[in-house]
Amino acid sequence: MAINLEDVKNTGIKAAYGSADILRSHLGRLGHIQKKGPKDLVTEADIESEKHIIETIRKKFPDHDILAEESGSSIHGDAEYQWVIDPLDGTTNFAHQVPFFSVSIAFAVSGEIRVGIVLNPISGELFTAVKHNGAQLNGHTINVSSCQSISESLLVTGFPYDVKQDSRPYMVRFENMLNAAIGIRRLGSAALDLCYVACGRFDGFWEEHLHPWDTAAGVLIAEEAGARITDFLGNSYTIDKPEILATNGHIHDDVRKLLNL
Ligand code: IPD
Ligand code: CA
Ligand code: CA
Repeated sequence: MAINLEDVKNTGIKAAYGSADILRSHLGRLGHIQKKGPKDLVTEADIESEKHIIETIRKKFPDHDILAEESGSSIHGDAEYQWVIDPLDGTTNFAHQVPFFSVSIAFAVSGEIRVGIVLNPISGELFTAVKHNGAQLNGHTINVSSCQSISESLLVTGFPYDVKQDSRPYMVRFENMLNAAIGIRRLGSAALDLCYVACGRFDGFWEEHLHPWDTAAGVLIAEEAGARITDFLGNSYTIDKPEILATNGHIHDDVRKLLNL
């Protein structure tokens, strides 16, 4: 029997709201902050949020495969159905009490993302999408912007934690965009960056070295809102690729040219 994607979406939303409660309860009250790398933080809030999401999914769908950031590796189940989870996207913001972070939950069938959920626990904005059914913000349909020119565009990006290894290519791309666009933002949650492209607040987003859990939900939400998403060469994007460019489509090729050094 085919899986009911509305059931899947509702389970994901339930998990996301539970996580949002957990994250808010820890905000500003963190104990020890661990490091996964020199700049890569992990807090008890990341861990508790992930535990809650996995338990909520497991209760309803005990056999599904789960790929979640903090669990290290995937929790194996029926690989036909896989959940891809970032329990706290924007940990650096969270740890510094900057109120811009999210919970990101995606669901894939045989590797194709079918459901995407991104929730901002502070603003209460819930972005959702089911494949072929459009994208919504708090239940209302959203679309990408109509901006036609890179010179009129507001763009957003992010930098990987290991940027220090060789920061020049990131800086050159950043400078190219700074010269071409109206402005650039670096907000610190890739999942929300993609959702902001989806609802037309930003005209484009690019980043390198993201992980599947950073982009899985946001990519579907942006695509369903009309975004074009590729790698920097213009090839179709998949969540295992090391680079992503998501735009409203109109400015895509112009932005892409500036990313190719
Ligand atoms: C990070 C955020 C950030 C991006 C980093 C990601 P995390 O995720 O999405 O915006 O620039 O590259 O790793 O570590 O907060 O889940
Ligand atoms: Ca993340
Ligand atoms: Ca995370």
